[in-house]
Amino acid sequence: MTQENQADLAVHIVDHPLVQHKLTLMRQKETGTKDFRELLEEIAMLMAYEITRDLPLEDVEIETPVAPCRVKKLAGKKLGIVPILRAGLGMAEGVLRLIPAARVGHIGLYRDPDTLQPVEYFCKLPGDIGERMFIVVDPMLATGGSSAAALDLLKKKGAKSIVLLCLVAAPEGVRTVNAAHPDIPIYVAAVDDCLNEHGYIVPGLGDAGDRIFGTL
Ligand code: PRP
Ligand code: URA
Repeated sequence: MTQENQADLAVHIVDHPLVQHKLTLMRQKETGTKDFRELLEEIAMLMAYEITRDLPLEDVEIETPVAPCRVKKLAGKKLGIVPILRAGLGMAEGVLRLIPAARVGHIGLYRDPDTLQPVEYFCKLPGDIGERMFIVVDPMLATGGSSAAALDLLKKKGAKSIVLLCLVAAPEGVRTVNAAHPDIPIYVAAVDDCLNEHGYIVPGLGDAGDRIFGTL
């Protein structure tokens, strides 16, 4: 399998050993729905830990049972999680375990199997959209059409601060999102080799939605 030159891609790879180990388990075709879903949730939580490491903190005064003290708490924008339906739901659960107070928006898109173009069928987002930092989650960044469309939609609705969190990307998908949304940071666990003639990531992990929900 030839790996094309990926030097031009603007993408952050979360190379934590636990993420990489769990991704390998997910890629294996023998891994069943229950394990696949649990692993995706765990990886999403670990990746969310990595991508939130630069969130701003502020000083606050509190009292412990022993003494008053000055300590840190999260400052700045509130968080929102936006899974791209359906497969993004599997990642949103993991991010929510780490950030349980985040609001959750949903964007429904499916990829037309013939044209590979994204088709929108649902959009419900929190009201105070301009005040939040959004984490858009979708395990697969293949042609990039679905993620680029979701980012378009969020921006049109007024979102000012967005990051894209995916599990596996194809170079083509990263390039599409880089070109359409150069301001949006992309985080992935792996950039694979290429897309096949059906628009699937190679080697990838197959159809993420079908593996999460057992609809193979
Ligand atoms: C998958 C995946 C992404 C999209 C990626 O969803 O979850 O949303 O394909 O492909 P792209 O980068 O070429 O747009 P799918 O359309 O299969 O829908 P599903 O999540 O409902 O299964
Ligand atoms: N969607 C998936 O679920 N998997 C791929 O490899 C490409 C698109």
